Amino acid sequence: MKNWPQVPRIITLRSSLKSARDPIGTLNQALAHYGDTVRLYLGGVRPSVVTRDPALVQHVLQKNHRRYHKSDLTHGLLRYLGRGLLTNEGADWLRQRRLIQPGFHRQRLAGLTRLMRQAADEWVASVEAQLAESKGVVELDAHAATTRVAFCIVARSVFGDSLADSELAQLSDWLTAIQAFYISTIRQPYLRPWHWARGNYGRHDRLATRLRELVRGAIGRHQAALAAAPAGTPPPDDLLQMLLDARYEDDGAAMSENQLLDELNILLVAGHETSANALAWAFALLAHHPAAQQQLAHEIARELPAGREVEFEDLPRLPYALQVVQETLRLYPPAWIMDRVATEPDEFQGVAIAQGTLFSLYLYGLHHHPGLWPEAEQFRPERFAPGAVPAPPTYAYLPFGGGPRLCVGNQFALTELQLVLIQAVRRFEINPVGPGLPGLSPLITLRPGELRLRFSRREGVGESQ
Ligand code: HEM
Repeated sequence: MKNWPQVPRIITLRSSLKSARDPIGTLNQALAHYGDTVRLYLGGVRPSVVTRDPALVQHVLQKNHRRYHKSDLTHGLLRYLGRGLLTNEGADWLRQRRLIQPGFHRQRLAGLTRLMRQAADEWVASVEAQLAESKGVVELDAHAATTRVAFCIVARSVFGDSLADSELAQLSDWLTAIQAFYISTIRQPYLRPWHWARGNYGRHDRLATRLRELVRGAIGRHQAALAAAPAGTPPPDDLLQMLLDARYEDDGAAMSENQLLDELNILLVAGHETSANALAWAFALLAHHPAAQQQLAHEIARELPAGREVEFEDLPRLPYALQVVQETLRLYPPAWIMDRVATEPDEFQGVAIAQGTLFSLYLYGLHHHPGLWPEAEQFRPERFAPGAVPAPPTYAYLPFGGGPRLCVGNQFALTELQLVLIQAVRRFEINPVGPGLPGLSPLITLRPGELRLRFSRREGVGESQ
């Protein structure tokens, strides 16, 4: 029977250090040499099928999705964050997904836009304050800035005003610490005994408990405010309210408090770092492509005259903003690789897939595939223009995954990314500090390396805002 080429184990072992430092470079090299799908030992240890073949990715995510689950790499998060959409499986996942998905429909996003814009504007105002104190130029650690704004957006969209600013910062710190610890236990499994001995597991378990208590407190305040509101007050637009109102199709019940806590944790984690990375990369790309930044600034000035706030309904009239976001997500997909395990034997184009096979669906490789994308390494937002030729190939562009487990927050993310870009570019000119784009820092999500950018007031567009 046919099989995919195998990278000899000795080669993966020899390159395991290089691969820990530069997993993307190492995978690119292997795929360029052996073909779009290879069998190799991740880190020299763990057998996996790595693929950038759109047909195989579609097979696993969509056509035969019932035979594939996420692996222990994702399920390990259960310990800290609980069983929410991202970590759940099977019938239980489907029941939750049906309950939660309506909260992310486009019409609901219109209501959330106000909360998103409020968070974006707080950040814009803080940059403006720094500009007023400096000589008209501020140099920012762009990733730190986008991490703050993305967390603020998702936390405000989830909790509305039920979280104090200090709690928001606390939540962000705790989630970051838990994620960093979790990644280190995955990336350097040989350190696990050391972590046990140092009490690091216990410490992070306690952090997870405190995090739940903080979120429980916010839910309590939300419900108390609701009960105290005068009759006829419309309920808040936030996602927490949506989750409290949601009822299961089968028994008409509401979610239990524990399930609600799990889902809230997962939304915060899934919707935070991914968007922060995408925003940081978008700023970096615009800084290094002044013509594209200029085109975006013109589109904004044309569609949003001075003093006019951007609304959800305005976004379709700003197609270039969306194209910039889409092309950023192609070049730098925050979820750069996705894991799946075959839960039963399967077959793909004559290749037998044994139960337990671990797949690494290499989205970065798909998005940079020279055979699928003309000038794959170039930043060309117009490739996503309506009617552009050639159209992006099927299952070659999956920043939000695919099949039934497509990112539930994909419209939310596209809206928030456009909003922040629009609010930033209409006020600021963004310029690079160093010569080239930052390097890749692929952790669970694809971060930029050191990224400093200069922000100055945009002449002729910003003064009257
Ligand atoms: C640019 C931003 C984002 C990117 C690139 C992104 C990417 C992804 C991807 C690739 C998946 C599928 C994972 C898999 O199948 O293994 C996913 C799932 C998910 N995302 Fe996002 N995401 C983003 C923003 C968000 C936001 C803002 C939220 C929520 C507010 C969110 C919530 C979720 C949830 C809950 C899941 C699990 C869905 C399920 O399995 O039913 N994401 N995301």
